[in-house]
Amino acid sequence: MSAPTPNWWKKGTAYQVWPASYKDSNGDGIGDIQGLIGTLPYLKDLGIDIVWLSPMYKSPQKDFGYDISDYRDVDPQFGTLADLDELIKKCHDMGMKLLLDLVINHTSDEHKWFLESKKDKTNPKADWYVWRDPKIVDGKRQPPNNWRSIFGGSAWEYVPERDQYYLHLFVPEQPDLNWELDEVRQAIYKEAIVFWLDRGVDGFRVDTCNLYSKNTSYPDAPVTLPGEVYQPAFTHFVNGPRMHEWLREQRQQVLDNYGDVAMVGELPGTEAAEVLKYVAAEARELSCVFDFDVVSLGGRHGDGVKKHQVHAHDLPSFKEAFRKQQHLTRGTTAWTTCFLENHDQARSLDRFATSKPEFREKAAKMLATLLGCLTGTLFMYQGQEIGMTNIPDSWGIEEIKDPDSLNAYNDVKDRHDADPLWLKRAMSGIQRVGRDNARTPVQWDSSANAGFSTGKPWMRVNDNYPEINVADQQKDAKSVLSYWKQMNQIRKKYADLTVFGDFELWDYLDPDVFTFTKENKTNGFTNKKLLTFLSFSDEEQPMHYPPDCKGKEMELIVSNVDTPGQYLSPWEARVYLVTL
Ligand code: GLC
Ligand code: CA
Repeated sequence: MSAPTPNWWKKGTAYQVWPASYKDSNGDGIGDIQGLIGTLPYLKDLGIDIVWLSPMYKSPQKDFGYDISDYRDVDPQFGTLADLDELIKKCHDMGMKLLLDLVINHTSDEHKWFLESKKDKTNPKADWYVWRDPKIVDGKRQPPNNWRSIFGGSAWEYVPERDQYYLHLFVPEQPDLNWELDEVRQAIYKEAIVFWLDRGVDGFRVDTCNLYSKNTSYPDAPVTLPGEVYQPAFTHFVNGPRMHEWLREQRQQVLDNYGDVAMVGELPGTEAAEVLKYVAAEARELSCVFDFDVVSLGGRHGDGVKKHQVHAHDLPSFKEAFRKQQHLTRGTTAWTTCFLENHDQARSLDRFATSKPEFREKAAKMLATLLGCLTGTLFMYQGQEIGMTNIPDSWGIEEIKDPDSLNAYNDVKDRHDADPLWLKRAMSGIQRVGRDNARTPVQWDSSANAGFSTGKPWMRVNDNYPEINVADQQKDAKSVLSYWKQMNQIRKKYADLTVFGDFELWDYLDPDVFTFTKENKTNGFTNKKLLTFLSFSDEEQPMHYPPDCKGKEMELIVSNVDTPGQYLSPWEARVYLVTL
């Protein structure tokens, strides 16, 4: 018997497109699907196998597409259904797969389901969302409980027509669907999933897919932020009692009719043991998930931490977060992903390495080396391949578009009577971890607007586009882009070690150097090991060899310097293939 074919979504390198800022084809200043279609050869050449397209559905854009008003249509600002069909076909013709974003915890408040539901308490969709009566305190109307929205403020919004509140875990324009109802789940499956699988998409990145099942008695959350009116209520809505039942139902009733559909879950605030229940192959729920330990470093994710309170982290905690993520699926039937960036995170160069001009390119290649060697499906994010950076420190709050950042800023403003020093602190938090860092337009060339659009970009282009752009890097064999291309090839060539190997951290306390090995005792290079050294320092650093690699035959397979010396130069990366 031959070995079973591994799932297609394991070995492939994925690339996330956040459409508004990717590439504008018609000069209206907003990226679109035709813009993306035009760059498919570029993505193919970069070594991309899977394109993940963030929401392009019809949407009032209150949370940039994550508030959907019609699952079965494309927002006119991004194009038409015909453009999407063309995208599916062209991806497939070029041997690439396409994932869409599946946002079904909530809809937009302009979705026809919600418009009907909010009319009164007796309409046919009256229970399609989560409605509760007000709590009357001292004769005054209050939200039903003290839950805090993930984006700040109360998680409840009042509707006079019903004299009731509806639940929104995110912005008020994103009412949560009532998954408890059979007919709601069936409607979601039909409109949001089947509709697209029938058109040929290969799977989904599943938005906040552990929040559907709530504690339906809606009790107050315990006070973990003393002095605050609204409290983080994660224990009452994360990984709720019916999550597994519903994900299995979805797989069995819907996905199984379409073969090996990839479901890449976003599971915020979930402990390792809990994650395994979703991704174990036999559970048949999700294909793999994103782990947020790395990107949440310095903040206590899930604690309702505020942007201006995220603090610096050290290298050992960065390594430890990776160790935990890499070991989670080891020896199990489950699968994982690796990533450092997406549309909700700051740029990895600023967040985890350095964007100092003298080290920036080298550091970007070093991070590419790290990701290229990790186990799991690799997810890259637009602009990461050229080392795009955070918004400049000189930008003020007027450039910020993200509702999450704006809420955080206004919260500080209200609490501290617009005190300038407080506002400075709020802004520096947004500059460090705000979502807009990843949402500035992609820098395609050094012409006006970075070649993103011939019109006025909907969001300001990062000032550094003359130095960081695709066109210049395509001409330069030593660019970050060329390095990523090489790294993606190496990742495939040594896939048994990189994609499928076992990760081992070495000398995790070393504050400046990240050293790890990858090996695979069952497949491929069974008598070899990959040994990776990564410097996270502005200074030269010595290397510490793991004992079993010392004195062995070593072949350098990739490095971000031409001739590696005895020591690691600042931000240097090297990968050796060691013969054991
Ligand atoms: C996810 C998305 C984020 C969005 C939120 C609400 O976390 O990644 O961008 O704001 O869900 O849909
Ligand atoms: Ca456009």
